[in-house]
Amino acid sequence: MKPIKGVLLKGGRVIDPATQLDGERDLLIDGERIVGVETPGAFAGVKDLDVIDVSGKLVVPGLIDLHVHLREPGYEWKETVLTGTDAAAAGGFTTVCCMPNTKPVNDKAEVTRHIIRKAEEAGFARVLPIGAITKGQEGKELSEMVELYEAGCVAFSDDGFPVMNAGVMRRALEYVSMLGAVLTVHEEERTLSDGFAMNEGKTAVKLGLRGFPGAAEEIMISRDIELARLTNSRVHFCHVTTARGVELIRRAKNDGIPVSGECTTHHFTLTEEACEGFNSQAKCSPPLRTDEDREALLRGIMDGTLDAIASDHAPHENDSKECDFPSASNGMLGLQLTVPLALAQVRAGKLSLPRMIEALTVSPAKAFRITPPALKAGAIADIAVINPEERVLLTKSYLRSKSKNTPFLNQELQGICIMSFLGGKRVFDYLSMNSQQSSK
Ligand code: DOR
Repeated sequence: MKPIKGVLLKGGRVIDPATQLDGERDLLIDGERIVGVETPGAFAGVKDLDVIDVSGKLVVPGLIDLHVHLREPGYEWKETVLTGTDAAAAGGFTTVCCMPNTKPVNDKAEVTRHIIRKAEEAGFARVLPIGAITKGQEGKELSEMVELYEAGCVAFSDDGFPVMNAGVMRRALEYVSMLGAVLTVHEEERTLSDGFAMNEGKTAVKLGLRGFPGAAEEIMISRDIELARLTNSRVHFCHVTTARGVELIRRAKNDGIPVSGECTTHHFTLTEEACEGFNSQAKCSPPLRTDEDREALLRGIMDGTLDAIASDHAPHENDSKECDFPSASNGMLGLQLTVPLALAQVRAGKLSLPRMIEALTVSPAKAFRITPPALKAGAIADIAVINPEERVLLTKSYLRSKSKNTPFLNQELQGICIMSFLGGKRVFDYLSMNSQQSSK
C-alpha cells in the first residue's frame, strides 16, 4: 500500500445510511477525502497515520441541519456565521441551511453571497442559505427566486411568518418547480394565532396566556398540500408540531403528493408544560404542544413521514428572552443540543439509532436535493464522531453560540459529538477543547 499521511478513525461503530453500513470499521481519511471504510486492522500496513481510537464511539456522516438561524447580517449580537457554524461543528453538523430572516432579509443575491463568503472565511461548516419566498418576507411580492438560486440558495422560506396569500404561494411553487428547488414553509393561520404566547390548551388557560391552536398550523398544512398537488411542486413543512399535522403529511405522501417534513428536537422533547412558571426560554413558534403530539412526532420520524430532525437553532440575547412571557422572542438554541436530545429518545426506545442518523443525514439531503453524504472510498470526508456515553453539564461556556438561550441550561446531557471533520479537516475536537479549558 502506498504510504499516505492521513487520519485513521480506528474501531468505531460506523453507521452510514447511504451505504446501509452499521458495524465496527476503521475509516481512513487522506486530505479531504475518505480512502476507505474497512474491517478493523485493514489499514495496519499504512505508515505515518494519525491514529484516533474511536472504539465505543459512533462514526457517522457529517450531520445536516435544514433549519438554523445564523442571524448575520443584521443581528450579529445574537449570533454570527462564525459563532453559529462553530456551534454547528461542535454539534456534529457539517452542513447547515440558514433561514433568511436576517436584516436585510436574504431576498437578494448579494445577501446570499455575503453569507456564503462569511461561511467560507469561518471554515467550520458548509452553509447553504435559504432565500426568502417574498420580498422582505412580507408575503406580498415574490423575491427574485431565480437570482437567489443562482447565487447559492438551496430552498426558499419566509420562516417566522407564513405566506398567507394562497395565490402568492401558488406562484412561488410554480417558480421552485421550474428551478427544481423546494419551499420550506412555516405554517400558521395568523387570524387564529394572532397575539399568541404559547399552545392553546390547559397550560395557557392556567397562565392566562393567549394560545396558538394546533388547527392554525394544520389548516395551512392542508392548504399547501393542495397547492403542492395543484402545481406538482415540492413543499417541505418546517417544524411540524401536531399529531394531526403529521397525519395530514402521512396521507399526502400516500397520495403521492411531493411533500416532506421536519421535526425539531425541542418539539419532540418538551411539551407546553415547559412554559410553566412563565419560563420564556421554552417560548417558540410554533409553540411546544402536548404529550400526545410529542409522541406522534416521534412516530412520524420513525415511519419516515417526517423526513428530517432539524434544530431550528434560534439564538436570542438574554434581554429579549428574560422579560415578560408574551414579549419574549421565540426560539431556543439547537445545534449543540440535537444529538443529545435525539439520543435521549433512542435510549427511551422512541427512536432507533439508525433512523436517528438517517433523519440527520440522508433524509434531509433528499428533502432539499442536496448531494447525500456517504462514508465510502472517494467521498468527501465530512464526518461526525459521537460518544453516546459522554455526559456534559450544559453550561454557558459549553455553548459556542453567542447567545445562551435554552431551557436545558445547567442540565446534564448524555451523548455528544466529540469530533467533527469538514472535508478531512478536524473542525471540532471535544478532548482538546476540554484540555484547553482545564489548563486555563
Ligand atoms: O421559534 C422560532 N424562532 N420560530 C420561528 O419561526 C422563528 C425563529 C427565530 O427566528 O427566532
